[in-house]
Amino acid sequence: MKILLTGASGLVGSAFARAAARAGHEVFGVVGRWSETVPGTAGLLARDLADSTQARALVQGIHPALIVNAAAISEPAACEADPVMSRAVNVEFPAALAAVAAHARIRLIHLSSEQVFDGEGGPYAPDAPPHPLNLYGRQKREAEQRVSEAARQAAIVRLPLLFGNSLTGRRSVHEKMFETWAAGKVTPLFTDELRQVCTAGNVAAMLLALAARRDLHGLFHWAGARSVSRHEMGAAFCRHFGVDEKWIRAQRRAELPELAARRPRDLSLDCAPLDRELGVPREPFEDAVRSLARPQWAEDLAL
Ligand SMILES: NC(=O)c1ccc[n+]([C@@H]2O[C@H](COP(=O)([O-])OP(=O)(O)OC[C@H]3O[C@@H](n4cnc5c(N)ncnc54)[C@H](OP(=O)(O)O)[C@@H]3O)[C@@H](O)[C@H]2O)c1
Repeated sequence: MKILLTGASGLVGSAFARAAARAGHEVFGVVGRWSETVPGTAGLLARDLADSTQARALVQGIHPALIVNAAAISEPAACEADPVMSRAVNVEFPAALAAVAAHARIRLIHLSSEQVFDGEGGPYAPDAPPHPLNLYGRQKREAEQRVSEAARQAAIVRLPLLFGNSLTGRRSVHEKMFETWAAGKVTPLFTDELRQVCTAGNVAAMLLALAARRDLHGLFHWAGARSVSRHEMGAAFCRHFGVDEKWIRAQRRAELPELAARRPRDLSLDCAPLDRELGVPREPFEDAVRSLARPQWAEDLAL
């Protein structure tokens, strides 16, 4: 199948490109600033998706059978730093893509986030009322609404905090932790903030299975097998990479109330019905950690 994949250079996009190519699909990737190759793609286009007119041009140029929108400004701080540009990528582009996909009767899978919830009412089912605490969460929620209004047949999947080995070696949770350690700083980690992490590779397997199920449309959740605290994640990274645990510090949310106010406390997700329908195993936390590689740039770092 010919697939148009936006965000091909990102954590999820690059994992999906590899998995889709292995499954025999022809992937045309769209990147923003990335200037190198993306394994698994048959073709790569650099486009600024803050310009939503790119949606029509891309679909008309490629004629895909499936569109996967994995492009986003995915960091809450980056959204706050540039609300206009992040809204263009996170809301206006997905809305335009959904309209083009619906018009051309092409299946669209759009990715959303656990951050649409406030973290006080989990585990959240897909129909639980959203209440985002930060701008990123509000943009992701608005995009969900705009995509589902424009393309009733679209599948929208909310994802948890993701682990993985990114192309840049600087995008995912453990890679950012290595950056902090490389700067000689200790990582403070909440013991009372929970996330149901899985890897981008596991998400890619789920997306491939979902792509084959055109009957599944609407809002879905996907996440790892269990929720863990931020501190539990950091401790598991230290053990996995042989890093001294003096590089992480346990902290409670009450110690940093201003930061905690913008970060949901417990984002546990109820993953029915995808869990039941797709037959893709939900990933155990320990397996997710085992799949992580020390970033190449940090190989000689003594920690
Ligand atoms: N990572 C997580 O923990 C997480 C958790 C929940 C949900 N999600 C959602 O999952 C999806 C994928 O996230 P991710 O972690 O893979 O994101 P990511 O690693 O930050 O990658 C973002 C992708 O979007 C592209 N992009 C950003 N701005 C662009 C622009 N103006 N024009 C063209 N491309 C642009 C980037 O391209 P370049 O790098 O080439 O510029 C990159 O390929 C997003 O919808 C995100 O909201 C992610």
